[in-house]
Amino acid sequence: MQRVFSGIQPTGIPHLGNYLGALRNWATLQKDHDCLFCLVDMHSITMPWEPEKLRQQTLASTACLLASGIEPTRLYNQSAVSAHARLGWIFNCISRLGWLNRMTQFKDKAGKNRENHSAGLYVYPNLMAADILAFQATRVPVGDDQRQHIELANDIGQKFNHDMGVDFFPTIEPLIPPQAARVMSLRDGSKKMSKSDPSEQSRITLTDTPDEIAQKIRRAKTDPEPLPGEAAGLENRPEARNLLSIYGAMSDRSLEDLLSEFGGQGFGTFKTALADLLVEKLAPVASETRRLLADESHLLEVLRQGAARARSVADPIVDEAERLVGF
Ligand code: ADP
Ligand code: NA
Repeated sequence: MQRVFSGIQPTGIPHLGNYLGALRNWATLQKDHDCLFCLVDMHSITMPWEPEKLRQQTLASTACLLASGIEPTRLYNQSAVSAHARLGWIFNCISRLGWLNRMTQFKDKAGKNRENHSAGLYVYPNLMAADILAFQATRVPVGDDQRQHIELANDIGQKFNHDMGVDFFPTIEPLIPPQAARVMSLRDGSKKMSKSDPSEQSRITLTDTPDEIAQKIRRAKTDPEPLPGEAAGLENRPEARNLLSIYGAMSDRSLEDLLSEFGGQGFGTFKTALADLLVEKLAPVASETRRLLADESHLLEVLRQGAARARSVADPIVDEAERLVGF
């Protein structure tokens, strides 16, 4: 059975991009894979953070993931399993500065003010490689934004193998969904939907009420043209393409099929249909999340047991990696 690892930052309530790019696929993979899913709180402190908020968001994310169908035994938080930090340090010494300099996510997050960001933000992809390889996982379900990080993780694993003269870390394959692998902001079709976007109107979260969902879709940025009858007509219309691909992924319908229904009309009818669809699919997740959030000690117990299971898998692997290094 293939081992699957994936993570999400507990930096805020998961959004529709996380759901379509990652969470929904995690729930499906559990059926026939050996899965581990991680709240990567160590990654969450690579950008400025508030301790009490991080603690609350870790619990809220736990509730959201359980409500999205993740099995409790497969879920834990990163900082509770020291294997991540131990292998992360080794990988800091295997990885090359030249490799990190090519990472587009660092450039996006750091922007122009590079000098004033944490060293953690810069070496974050090394820790992400350790997250996966501490379990010798071979499959990583992620959104399209993580493609470059997975390539780097493979470069690191292969360099470790080469330098130590072993065949220890496996090759990792990203599992990127065919539709809606990169959900864009509802306010700006050139930016990905993200927890760190300051505009709450830019994303639909897994705890939004039906009214909030409908209002965000109604206000979502569009252009003045009617929807085209064919996919070719979506060129240079990122907002229209984004809303259609959300609808397609949520309903398992192709773009062509949707355009044959909505093409030629303005956005009004389509937005109403999209809001109804999102409410139908996400409202049950939101109400289950609220129910779970009411029992904090249960959430803490889920994380405690998940961490014990994760340690039992990762500790022997990282012990061996340390022995190979000469520790
Ligand atoms: P964020 O960037 O919102 O903080 P994370 O970095 O925690 O999200 O990513 C968690 C998972 O969700 C990753 O697999 C990532 O690829 C996926 N993901 C994040 N944003 C999007 C998006 N806009 N569209 C599709 N998948 C996404
Ligand atoms: Na991300």
